[in-house]
Parts: sequence; C-alpha cells; structure tokens
Amino acid sequence: MLPSYKYDRVKKKDASVAAIEHVENDCILGVGTGSTVNHFIKCLGHSGKRPRIIVATSKQSERLLQLEGFDCSVLSNMKRPVLDIYIDGADEVDPRLNLIKGGGGALTSEKIILNCAEKFVCIVDESKLVTRLGKFGLPIEVIAAAIPSIRAFIDVNYGGVARERPGFITEHGNPIIDVSGLDIDQPEFMERELNQIPGVVTVGIFSNQKPAVCIVGCDSGVKELFSEEIV
Ligand code: 5RP
Repeated sequence: MLPSYKYDRVKKKDASVAAIEHVENDCILGVGTGSTVNHFIKCLGHSGKRPRIIVATSKQSERLLQLEGFDCSVLSNMKRPVLDIYIDGADEVDPRLNLIKGGGGALTSEKIILNCAEKFVCIVDESKLVTRLGKFGLPIEVIAAAIPSIRAFIDVNYGGVARERPGFITEHGNPIIDVSGLDIDQPEFMERELNQIPGVVTVGIFSNQKPAVCIVGCDSGVKELFSEEIV
C-alpha cells in the first residue's frame, strides 16, 4: 500500500485538535496568531469547552474567536494578569524547543501574553521542525528610525541580511525587519543581544519562554515533544 502524505494544513488541524485536551473548562486562556491557531480557534468552538477569560494576541484571532462565540479580554482588564495556558504556533522549532515566531507579525503581543502564562502549548506541523534555527527569516519588530543602525549591527556581527517587510505595520504601529542568512546556534545569547540594540522592540527568537509541550502534526498523526525531556 502507498504511504499517505497529509497536507500541512491537515497536520496543523491535527495538532490543534490534540491541543484542545490541554484546555480546561473555565480556564484563563491566551491565544496566539496564525493559520495553525486559526484551526485551533475553530476546534475550540466545536469542543464545547468554555474558557472563563480569553486574551488574544491579534485582532485577527480576536475576530475569529468572536465568530466562534467567545468574547476576548485584555491583560489590562485583569486584576492579576496570569493565564493558565497559552496556545500558539511557530515558524521554526529546534530540538530544544527554541522557537522562531513572528511570521504573522504578532510577535510583540505574543511575547507579552506568553510571559503571563503558566503553561505554553505550541502547535505546529512537522515542516516547522529544524535542527538549527535560522532558515526562516528572523522577524524583528523595530522602531522605524532605528532600521539603518539595526541593519548595520546585524550585518557586522551576524552576517545576516535585514529587509523591511514590505507594506507591513504591526498592531503596535511599527515595521518588521526579516533577517535572512542566519545560523542561530546560540538562540538564548542571540535573543538577549539583539534585544539590547536600541530601537529593537521584539526579537522573534523565543528561547526564554519555551513551550512545556510542542504538539506536532505529522503524516502518522501527532507527536508531542516535551522541553523537560531535553537535556
Ligand atoms: C505569528 C506567529 C505564528 O505563530 C507563526 O508565524 C506560525 O504561523 P502559521 O501557524 O500560520 O504557520 O508567530 O506572529
């Protein structure tokens, strides 16, 4: 019999269905942004589970959540900004569950909301798994006036090429540069160093806030990768 190959969108959906298991009724839920999360939101709508509070990382996710009958809150309305769980996709996942995120441009809200979560469940299709981060252009949200100096720093220190994302402004009113040609072998160091450049708002490396579990949609179903198992 010929092996069956699933499309990435089916794998994203499989990972989303599996993620519903991690969502408790009445929980406080953070919801990321992107095509995988869009599947998750639909699955949540069909699941019958009703989080007490949902905080979304973008207008796009908020709109979809509303279509599924959920109201969204914002961190500033919460007495204690603590979420039980945060669900989001990623552009790349390395074997230690360091991530690149920001392909959808919501990286700043994603880092802020993830930072308030007790547990992060990442949902991806298997095309996102890499041995080393950097093939996907690294998104960095920046203050527009700092683009030339940030670009020069990255060129001199990392040999990467930073291009402004054409026609794109984040919900916080800033441009994004996507940096190609990087070989990210020390994600923690690089996240810290890039974060310190004046004018950088958010770096799309997520190495401080790793997922507790990464649910990966594969041809054979789903597999779960756990950060605590990685030494
Ligand atoms: C948005 C993100 C997304 O999680 C990331 O781009 C993955 O997107 P998709 O699920 O569409 O592949 O970081 O800012």
